[in-house]
Amino acid sequence: MTPFRVVDFLEAAERLQAQGRDIVRLEAGQPAFPTPAALVEATRTALAEERTRYTPALGIARLREAIAASYRRRHGIELDPGRVAVTTGSSAALALLGDLLIDPGDGVLLSDPGYPCNANFVRRAGGEPQWIPVGAEQRYQVTAAALAAHWRPNTIGAWLASPANPTGELIAAPALRDLVEEIGRRGASLVMDEIYHGLVYDEPEVSVLEMTADAFVVNSFSKYFGMTGWRLGWLVMPEAAARDINVLAQNFYISPPSIAQHAALAAFRPEVIAELEARRAELRRRRDFLVPALRELGFTIPHTPAGAFYVYAGIEGLAEDCEAFCWDMLERAGVAFTPGTDFGAHLARSKVRFSYTEPLDRLELAVERLRRALAAG
Ligand SMILES: Cc1ncc(COP(=O)(O)O)c(C=O)c1O
Repeated sequence: MTPFRVVDFLEAAERLQAQGRDIVRLEAGQPAFPTPAALVEATRTALAEERTRYTPALGIARLREAIAASYRRRHGIELDPGRVAVTTGSSAALALLGDLLIDPGDGVLLSDPGYPCNANFVRRAGGEPQWIPVGAEQRYQVTAAALAAHWRPNTIGAWLASPANPTGELIAAPALRDLVEEIGRRGASLVMDEIYHGLVYDEPEVSVLEMTADAFVVNSFSKYFGMTGWRLGWLVMPEAAARDINVLAQNFYISPPSIAQHAALAAFRPEVIAELEARRAELRRRRDFLVPALRELGFTIPHTPAGAFYVYAGIEGLAEDCEAFCWDMLERAGVAFTPGTDFGAHLARSKVRFSYTEPLDRLELAVERLRRALAAG
């Protein structure tokens, strides 16, 4: 297992804050929006009604139905709620998929850079992470051609994300279709992490489920819904996998958290969605401030990221090593962001990730502080 370095930065930033330093926190993957009032209310109600017991392993029926219905509204897909498993964050969905899909010795293709925990879910199941280096020229996404080029005799499939962490980049519909075809042709499995769905700013948002019922899709209440601490996610699976996922979930988790599930029922209410859409507009404003401001400071960002709340920026003209640079900027500028080496190896030493999870005035302060620190050398 490799450590999740962002947690080291989180802890260091917290230490400095405890010493009285003001730190602009752009290192973590959670926006600092308050929980929508309807969700707080639904949580109180769930507690008052003693919804504190185990639920079915794949989640309460009403929530599975609500999730299925959300695909009808957003993507025009009719989804049998029996194909939806509610999980303890999407992290548990990824763990279940590792257990279901991977046998010891199996290879799984992953993008480099990518979400760092994926490789550890693969290793946990005895599998071998197989990296596909992706660069700015492919908007940091895997193509069908790259998939074919990196396929090995033991490869059983690919785990991809759109929009992706740490780059915020999407797989556009035609490229996604090619990937689905390539995987289908090989009789392999495709895991698509759509956890940043809902946070796409100026391009159409496509779910792989619009193209195939064979993919495994991971999603969560953590990001768009802003419910990181509720630990609630979901998995959409092919019908044939539902029984095995149920057995695995029963054994390893018994059930997802019950109060969180009852609270999440309120997440799809129109007034909550309206609030979340206003947040999306706010995140877009932040992105549109931060990207040009960072470019002006000398960071390289060849393409404006299409979604999530991340900017993956090159520091080629500013410093040699991202880890030393991040520690230096934390100490001297009081701005916390994440070294590229947290997300892979491919050109990672010259990359950093900013999360625009703080309000605009804090982002402005961060840019000003970075400007001063960089000028001081
Ligand atoms: C791409 C991606 N997938 C999955 C997760 C796990 O999130 P959670 O378990 O909160 O749903 C994260 C968290 O940052 C992520 O960035």
